[in-house]
Order: sequence, then structure tokens, then C-alpha cells
Amino acid sequence: MIVAPSLLSANFARLADDVDMINRSKAHWIHCDVMDGVFVPNISFGFPVIKAVAKITEKPLDVHLMIVNPDKYVSEVRDCGAAIMNVHYEACTHLHRTVQNIHAAGMKAAVTLNPATPVCMLNDIICELDMVLLMSVNPGFGGQSFIANTVNKVRELRALITATGSNALIEVDGGINATTGASVAKAGADALVAGNSIFSSVNPIIEIETLAAL
Ligand code: DX5
Ligand code: ZN
Repeated sequence: MIVAPSLLSANFARLADDVDMINRSKAHWIHCDVMDGVFVPNISFGFPVIKAVAKITEKPLDVHLMIVNPDKYVSEVRDCGAAIMNVHYEACTHLHRTVQNIHAAGMKAAVTLNPATPVCMLNDIICELDMVLLMSVNPGFGGQSFIANTVNKVRELRALITATGSNALIEVDGGINATTGASVAKAGADALVAGNSIFSSVNPIIEIETLAAL
């Protein structure tokens, strides 16, 4: 299982220490949550912070943009050193073009679905995607409870990927811990984002290892 610790739950006053912990752990990626206070009711951090993190890690950066008009920022995200650019289905009027622009910039393209957005909205673009991120909470805040219906969505998305021959990975984000992580793993998830369960753990490195073993 791919594990992407979410920096949203890190100690921002000691960010280098938390990135160092991730560097020493079995985490595969670092998940960076960008919020604009418009698409979601919260503001987190932006490109200068991600750039600073990129300088002190070899782990690929999985940048999750919870912003309106993410298409405007493809080159900024690339210049931050992101490996994966995650845009919300709900924020892109011309999603196909946005995905093309992300690929042209040399990044992997991922599309994120909010809890109320059905998987079938991706029927006509699934073969162009490197990853689909299913939100298992309403985006905007860390530490919320996992929405159980996400397990059905993972199953449905797995069936769509198999039926179409798409290479897209399935990532799940929100309320992930060893228990909820196991339920989405069983349903067919490839990657887990976890913030609160990792950073509030007494031993984050072991917590990451537990999730990676699912
Ligand atoms: C929520 C963010 C998540 C968040 C997950 O809007 O997209 O990445 O950091 O945090 P937890 O694991 O605490 O739910
Ligand atoms: Zn996220």
C-alpha cells in the first residue's frame, strides 16, 4: 500500500523535523493540501511552503489542490517540484484540457472526487488519468471522521478501471487510520493519505509502517 502522510497535520513551526520523520519512514509520497478559502472553507499553505519542503525530501510530492481554477497554477505546481498534481473534478470546467496541461508540464495527473460526486462522472476520462483521489471526508480540514460510503465508491472505481483497462491508481483521503485503511484496501485502494492518525500517533514511523502493510 502506498502511504502519503498529509503535511496538513504536521507541526508547521517545526516542519523540517516532521519532513525528516517522513524521510526516515516507509512513506512513499508526501501529500500537500493547498486550500484557498473559496473552494473549501479553510486556508492552508501555498507554493513557497511546498518549494521549501521539496528542498529537504527525496519523496515525491503529491499536491492536492482544493482551489478554484487549478488550471491557472499548473506551471507553479510543476515549479514546486510536484510529481503528482491532484485537481478536483468539481473545480474544473474543462477537465480534459486541465489533465492535458498537467501531463504537458511533466507531472502525473490525478482527479479528486468529493464525497457527493459519483464515480461515473469519470467514465469518459478515466483512461487519461494516472490516479483518482476519492475524498472520504468533505475537504477542508484534517481530523474528520471517515465517510463509510467511500468503501462502495472504491469498489465501483476499481470495477471501472478494470473494465476500461485504465492504469489509474486509487487513492483515498480523509479519516484514514489502520481500521478505515484496511476497509478501503480490501475494496481495491492503492494509496492512502493520512494526516491525523500519523501525526497524533506516539510513534508516527510505526503508524506509517502499519498503513504501508495493509
Ligand atoms: C482534507 C485533506 C486531507 C487531510 C486528511 O481536506 O485533503 O488530506 O489532511 O487529514 P486526516 O487524515 O486527518 O483526515
Ligand atoms: Zn488531501
